[in-house]
Amino acid sequence: MSILKDIKFNIYNKKKIMEQATPTPKLHNSQLAEIESLSVRDTSKLHSSSIKKVIVTGVTGQDGSHMADYLLKNTNCMVYGTVRRLSVTNHVNIEHLKNEPRFQLINLDLTDDYSIREAIVELKPDYFLNFAAQSFVDGSWDYPIQTWDTDATAVLHMLESIRKFVPNCRFYNAGSSEEFGDVITDPQTEEHPLRPQSPYGAAKAAARQLVRVYRESYDLYAVQGWLFNHEGSRRGKEFVTRKISHGVAMIKHAIEKNEEIPVLRLGNMDAQRDWTDAEDFMSGVWLMMNQDAPKNYVFASGKMHTVRNFLEETLKVAKIDYIKVGKDEYEKFMIKDTNELIVEVDPKFYRPAEVHKLRGDCSLAEKELGWKRIYNFKSLVKKMYSNDYNLLK
Ligand code: GDD
Repeated sequence: MSILKDIKFNIYNKKKIMEQATPTPKLHNSQLAEIESLSVRDTSKLHSSSIKKVIVTGVTGQDGSHMADYLLKNTNCMVYGTVRRLSVTNHVNIEHLKNEPRFQLINLDLTDDYSIREAIVELKPDYFLNFAAQSFVDGSWDYPIQTWDTDATAVLHMLESIRKFVPNCRFYNAGSSEEFGDVITDPQTEEHPLRPQSPYGAAKAAARQLVRVYRESYDLYAVQGWLFNHEGSRRGKEFVTRKISHGVAMIKHAIEKNEEIPVLRLGNMDAQRDWTDAEDFMSGVWLMMNQDAPKNYVFASGKMHTVRNFLEETLKVAKIDYIKVGKDEYEKFMIKDTNELIVEVDPKFYRPAEVHKLRGDCSLAEKELGWKRIYNFKSLVKKMYSNDYNLLK
């Protein structure tokens, strides 16, 4: 790296670190009753019946919580959601499960192989669904080692414990379209080569190879689906769709209350993604886990939109009339009647390496699994905006 590039990169990183230090508004937390999580050492309190046991890691996140909901609604399994100790718990996405008898939180930390092994040895799960990860691509340049430890090494520990203690347990690892990265065909199928562009994509690609090696070496039912971008009201605000739905909802409230408008600042508006409603993926994952033989599938919508498209659709749903001026880093959106600034590009959100476009071909999953989607792009935008608008009321 040249000295100039080095300085630029350090400034880029510093800005991001400062930005991450800015506290995000806490929604709901004051109303939350914390759900107790058990140590797996305390096996006397764990469910002892003969119904199937599913461990879902990352259960407080978007995908893990939707998976728990899906399993509780569509199966009679006992669901063990895993959490790691935090001084401030974040149970917003699972609060509604606190009185659910078939749901139990247990302690597990991805960076502690002992805790992974203990959960597997003590619970002897029938399924292990790993949704826990450092899942923010941009953050993976700031925390490359932590990303590798949680997204690749932890998967190896899970595979090792399953192989040794419960070889009949079916294992799912959340894979990503980011593994395809610098794509060479459009759309991408299961045959597309792995060309990751970020530490995150590289860690997920490594995990995929480990899953394959363990499947082939030890005859495990171990799979890793390629999940293209999937969004919804449980999405973290660092991801672009939620950042937009939340940002536009803030702008709308400010307009309605005649207050100062909080400007929404975004990075690369031209990036194209294949966005699906996260809820639609859960049936796909469960179908993939219950085949005669293990196989990996792409899950996607097959439709691609730019970040700008997502923003414009959200502004439309919010009924905010706007004009657009400028290009690239000078692009700005203003309120049509008043010329007040509402959105602008800020290069600090550009990534050191960008995946410019991703679009998945899910025809294999549709044909072989009979997988279907309920939602589309417009319904997703509407759902996310309405949720944020109502939360801010
Ligand atoms: N986060 C963010 N913030 N992204 C922005 C912004 C911004 O202000 N402005 C533009 N973008 C662009 C990013 O550069 C990227 O091209 C695109 O919006 C989507 O970014 P994210 O929403 O952060 O998601 P992602 O595509 O990097 O990763 C997500 O999808 C993967 C599947 O393809 C994550 O959920 C990954 O965990 C997942 O594997």
